[in-house]
Order: sequence, then C-alpha cells, then structure tokens
Amino acid sequence: MAKVTPISSRKSSHIRINLEEDVRSALTTGLENYAFTHQALPEINLDDIDLSVEVFGKRLRAPLLISSMTGGTPEAAVINHNLATAAQETGIAMGLGSQRAAIEHPELAKTFQVRSVAPDALLFANLGAIQLNYGYTVDHCKRAVDMIEADALILHLNALQEAVQPEGQTHFSGLLKKIEAVCSELPVPVIAKEVGWGFSEETAGLLASVGVAAIDVAGAGGTSWSQVEMHRATSESQKRLAAAFIDWGIPTAESIINVRCADPNILIFASGGIRSGIDIAKSIALGACLGGMAGPFLKAAAQSAELTVSTINEVRREIQVCMFAAGASGIIQLRNTPLIHRGSLNAP
Ligand SMILES: Cc1cc2nc3c(=O)[nH]c(=O)nc-3n(C[C@H](O)[C@H](O)[C@H](O)COP(=O)(O)O)c2cc1C
Repeated sequence: MAKVTPISSRKSSHIRINLEEDVRSALTTGLENYAFTHQALPEINLDDIDLSVEVFGKRLRAPLLISSMTGGTPEAAVINHNLATAAQETGIAMGLGSQRAAIEHPELAKTFQVRSVAPDALLFANLGAIQLNYGYTVDHCKRAVDMIEADALILHLNALQEAVQPEGQTHFSGLLKKIEAVCSELPVPVIAKEVGWGFSEETAGLLASVGVAAIDVAGAGGTSWSQVEMHRATSESQKRLAAAFIDWGIPTAESIINVRCADPNILIFASGGIRSGIDIAKSIALGACLGGMAGPFLKAAAQSAELTVSTINEVRREIQVCMFAAGASGIIQLRNTPLIHRGSLNAP
C-alpha cells in the first residue's frame, strides 16, 4: 500500500476541499464580456465542423485539456485512471498533477502512470517550478517526464499559494535562469503554467524569452488556491491571510491577451474558470490553441470514466455548435473570428 507522506496527505485534502467546499475566486474570467457575432446563414454544415488541432506534433480531436490535478494517493490513482481513459477515448490532452511526491517517494509513481490506458493521448508531466530553487535540477525534470512517458513538461508557478501555506516554499529569486536551463536541456517542450492567478504581459515576456514553448494562463475566475488553502489552514490568522486573496489575480481573458501581446507566436493554453464550450471557443478567438478545465473534470472523474467522457463530449458539442453559429468551420477560422466586447455591444 502507498505510504502516507506529508505531500500525499496535502494532496488528499486538496481533492477533498475541491470536491466539498466552495473554492471559487471572487473574480470572473472576463470571458463573459465577449460575444461572437451570430451568423444566421453560416454556409457550413454542423457535422462538417472540424474541431481537431495539432499541439506538439500530436493531433487532438478537440481543443481540450484536462488540467493538471493529482497523483500520489490511492484515490488520486483512480481519478487519474478515469481521466486518462476519458482522454484516450475522446482524443484530448491531459496533464498529471505535480509529481514531486513520486520523485521523492518512487513507490508512488504508479499513481501517476496512465500511459497504458492512454497510449495516444498528449500527456503533460508536472512539477512546481519553485522546486528548482530547492535542489531540483534538469535531471529531476527528466525523471518526471520519463516516469509517465510525457510529451511535454509543465512547470507550474504558484507563488501566492506557497505564500499563504504554513509549509510554503517562497524563495522565488533567481528562478527564471533555472527555468531557462530546463527549457534548453530537456528533450521535450516546457510549458509554464499558473494555478489560477494568471499572467501579466511582463511575466509572459520573460518566460517566452527563456524558451518556454507554451503558456497555460490558468487565470483568475475559477478555482482559487488561496481559498483552498483557507479551508486547509489550522490557525485563524492563517485563514484570514488566505481569505484576503479571494479576489486576487489576472482574469483568464486578460491573461490570454497579455500573453498574446508579449509574444504573438507562443502557444497559449486557456484555463482558469473555463466552464463551457463557449468559454473555450471565445478563448481560442482571443488567441489560445486549446482550453483546459480542472475542477469540473475532477468532479466527473471522482464518479467514473464514463461520466468524464460524457462531460468532455458535452463540452465538445458546445464548442461545435458555437463554431457553427459563429460561422467558423475549423479551429484556424475560429482563431480569426472577431469577438465583440460587451461594452460596445449596444453602442449606437
Ligand atoms: C484538486 C486539484 C489539484 C491541482 N493540482 C495541481 C498541480 O499539481 N499542478 C498544477 O499545475 N495545477 C494544479 N491544479 C490547478 C489546476 O490545474 C488549474 O490551473 C486551476 O484549478 C484552475 O482551473 P479551474 O478553474 O478549471 O479549476 C490543481 C487543481 C485541482 C482542482
């Protein structure tokens, strides 16, 4: 049986809190401020609409990503198995949760290993970038990638979460140079990802300049990790500190635009509060190549792989109908479809 390590027990409480508590940010994604122009005569057939998109040399059947969540506990192993089964069946991408627990306790690796059920899926390994300032090297990153036969590595940036945790690792100084070393030495692409507070144009520019291949914006508007930490806090003062950040961060729509302005060529994954196919379609029209969701897929995968497949298929269908009504026959056309900003919707 898997050993209960401090990281594993933290991961268990993260899953429980995300399933049972209201951990939503007080901000919204900002995507609600945008709308497509309705096309009464789209001149395309609904069933001919092509949702496929190529990312890192693999073709996805829909521009969808199961955002990085978990691993390290028996419950997480079941969730990962359900998520991966669904990713394989529906042809979408999947990120595994932070693999630090398995790097430090190799017997936990199996809770992350889903390649056997998802032989064709685009799979992303995951580590906290901050570990590079606490002894991790490019070799640890290679081990995370090899452990799950990943196609790319996500380095997540969670400065605020670390700062409101009693056990947080907060020495962020000098991290960019270490991210640069990983980008230049790792044989697979590196994705920089937030965990729910988004990216400024300046930070996105720094990451693009050191060779990051993609940025997953994980903007504000969905799961708030300060709220998760608030529910986990054991002292009133720790709770108050975390609670103060309920409306912190750069909303997802703004983050996408920030990254696009910083580097028009970098791949953008939209995530953070994405809750529908229309949200994903809008994100693509703003510059993303795919959209990711964490919270909603966690709830489905905690039940079954079948429910996860039907959740994915519902989102997929909504993207397709949205593209139909907006007159976009494929993802490239969708990217070139202008959005109307709500502020100017009713302008004379
Ligand atoms: C239970 C749970 C665990 C998570 N663990 C990780 C993680 O290990 N690494 C990571 O990069 N992001 C992690 N995240 C953050 C998500 O990938 C995502 O960026 C964030 O939840 C915002 O997306 P959402 O609003 O769709 O939930 C986790 C999210 C959840 C719900």
